[in-house]
Amino acid sequence: MDSRISGFYKLSLDERRKKVIEFSSLSEDDLNIMKSQLPMDIAERMIENVIYLMEVPVGIATNFLINGKDYLIPMAIEEPSVVAAASNAARIAREGGGFFTTTSEPLMIGQVQVVKLKDPYFSKAKVIENKNNLIRIANEQDPVLVSLGGGCKDIEARVIDTSLGEMLIVHLIVDVRDAMGANAVNTMAEAVAPYIEEITGGKVYLRILSNLATYRMAYARAVFPKKVIGEDAVEGIIYAYEFARRDPYRAATHNKGIMNGIDAVLIATANDWRAVEAGAHAYASLNGYQSLTKWEVNNEGDLEGFIELPLAVGTVGGASSTHPKAKLARKILNVKDSREFAGVLAAVGLAQNFAAIRALAQEGIQRGHMSLHARNIAIMAGAEGELIDKVADEMVKEGKVRLDRAKELLKKFKNS
Ligand code: MEV
Repeated sequence: MDSRISGFYKLSLDERRKKVIEFSSLSEDDLNIMKSQLPMDIAERMIENVIYLMEVPVGIATNFLINGKDYLIPMAIEEPSVVAAASNAARIAREGGGFFTTTSEPLMIGQVQVVKLKDPYFSKAKVIENKNNLIRIANEQDPVLVSLGGGCKDIEARVIDTSLGEMLIVHLIVDVRDAMGANAVNTMAEAVAPYIEEITGGKVYLRILSNLATYRMAYARAVFPKKVIGEDAVEGIIYAYEFARRDPYRAATHNKGIMNGIDAVLIATANDWRAVEAGAHAYASLNGYQSLTKWEVNNEGDLEGFIELPLAVGTVGGASSTHPKAKLARKILNVKDSREFAGVLAAVGLAQNFAAIRALAQEGIQRGHMSLHARNIAIMAGAEGELIDKVADEMVKEGKVRLDRAKELLKKFKNS
């Protein structure tokens, strides 16, 4: 089915649900999950000291065509305009053939910190010489992962200079398949530590994965045709990009816009969005803080966008497998594994960046924000049904989005 659904935002809540149910072949049970709350007993097993739940709306981004496949994308976010912006950008990218994505193997890095070494380089050599033993010990911890084709694949070691002397940092390169991988990697890092101490004579302190997952990368590209967006937008976006490329103050905000989209999908699927955030910004800083996207103009004058970032995300394990709404979100997304999921996230990030810098370079973002804000103010003033839009539209037209004005307008419309 086509994810290009025009006027999705104009449908009622029930009609929108119906469309998604049809698109994703959802069941009656799925619909009940959409309508229900997370059971408290599940919540109490997720974290400690629970007292209540915090609701965030989940919206569906439409129009995404990625590697020739249509997607509806659930996004959980409290900020207005993000879902609309993603859908709009995806509609335009479709005209250029949609998004194309690639991902690397799902390789995570586990770090083991070895200190108090007399001979850090000699120790490094010993670690590398004993690579096969380290890999064996690591893999003994997770036979299931190994049976699925994953497991520890390689060992790297670096000497770093610190104010407490040189330290040896051993990296376990672990294929985590479709998990986010933190548990598997941390277990392996802890398991190899005594053997590393034995062969190096040093002392191990930290044993933990790195969120700078440079071996678990996702890439997406898309063309945004000039004939759809106009030459001014192409030029404006190129100028916006150059600004982000040269100025870390701007790059931080530019990348925040990218993460608006990626985080929203991660939250909808109960993935560790903090891990992805940390990885994205650390990756952006590898050569001085930079934009995660690149923008160019091709021979035809069309705008080409590209994004690359580490994306450590799972489709099995953790809350993404226990939270009923996270499972529902994954059903809607219909991704077969963590790599396809990472590709979708990269495409969403690129779409979000396109939408943000296009709006910023042209009309600004406030107009889009204002119409939703105005609706909220109209509701606060007591408007119901059709009057919500009527009051909101009038306030936006007047440029006066205020509670007192909403009350006046509501009175006027009610009396007329
Ligand atoms: C707001 O949440 C995101 C933007 O600031 C992103 C950007 O400036 O590119 C609009």
